[in-house]
Amino acid sequence: MLILGIESSCDETAASVVRDGHEILSSIISSQIDSHRPFGGVVPELASREHLEKIEFVIERALTDAAVKLEDIGGIAVTQGPGLIGSLLVGVCYAKSLAFARDIPLVGVNHIEGHVYSVVFENPPIQYPAMALIVSGGHTNLFWIPEEGQYKVVSRTRDDAAGEAFDKVAKMLGLGYPGGPIIENLAAQGDPRAVKFTKAKISDGRPDFSFSGLKTAVSRYVRENEIVPMRNGDKPSKVIADLAASFQQAVVAALVGTMEKQAAELQPKTLIVAGGVACNQSLRQHATRAAERLGVPVYFPSKHLSTDNAAMIAAAGAHRLKFGEAAAANISADITMRLQNLENEDEALRKSRVRYKL
Ligand code: KG4
Ligand code: ZN
Repeated sequence: MLILGIESSCDETAASVVRDGHEILSSIISSQIDSHRPFGGVVPELASREHLEKIEFVIERALTDAAVKLEDIGGIAVTQGPGLIGSLLVGVCYAKSLAFARDIPLVGVNHIEGHVYSVVFENPPIQYPAMALIVSGGHTNLFWIPEEGQYKVVSRTRDDAAGEAFDKVAKMLGLGYPGGPIIENLAAQGDPRAVKFTKAKISDGRPDFSFSGLKTAVSRYVRENEIVPMRNGDKPSKVIADLAASFQQAVVAALVGTMEKQAAELQPKTLIVAGGVACNQSLRQHATRAAERLGVPVYFPSKHLSTDNAAMIAAAGAHRLKFGEAAAANISADITMRLQNLENEDEALRKSRVRYKL
């Protein structure tokens, strides 16, 4: 079956045609990074306006590149949430209209579940139970996935997402936007042992992540050592490269350390590391070494599938459509949509929000 995936949750307008849930026939991504760069981050109003301008073209291109017609499409999968409300609405409304007008089954997909499915194209099939570390600009979660489609949050960030920390530290050092790839390049010239950052401690003992303390520690280090942020055209100084390398090392150690500890306890058959931050080579290397120690395979998406795309949304939607799930005609964007349908202690307190419905 052919699925048309549509993604517009943040600053990428994307559409993709995927066959049988794991073969990409086309994947078109229109990135807005250049529009947001002068502001040092995503401007929501600008983002929704650009989605509106691009969505029709992006979908048409995805169909043309896949050499298929709308009549060939067996289902439409659209990102329903979480994300920016104006951005999500563009994709959801377009998908809903298209599905209704052409009588095509529609399914709303959780963006984070999409990132989990980004590994299905280039790796052997996922063996369950699996564990997935999803690290992006908006999310940092470690999921336990006992079987396909079942999610329990093992660890979540208490404050900033890992990608957000990269972006904020890059801004602090005058490095530009988005921060992740720039810090990674700079870190290659620096010494990761130059600055010692202490690991964040969570007072209630849960295995959660926290990156805002690390960001504050970087800011204090900059102030105390009178480091001058870089300006356009500056050659990066040794001290900034060292700081970038030490910061990256602290983030990677926190992510991989928690994943390894939880995996040793829960014993998954597959590890998944995905989301924009999974582009980071140091994260990949450390996660690979941890997986070797655990004796478990780890799957990563290639770089173009790590950051936001619609192929992963189509893949996640294919699974849901296969099991007969279909969105109601009144489907709308859900900015706080959560990916957890198995309860844990934390969730028991919020029973009413445990299941996400489409
Ligand atoms: O998954 P994504 O495209 O969008 C969200 O769903 O948030 O992730 C974007 C994030 C940004 O914060 C960006 O700085 C980060 O991924 N990122 C990286 C790298 N490439 C992108 N972080 C660390 N190292 C990288 N190489
Ligand atoms: Zn994402």
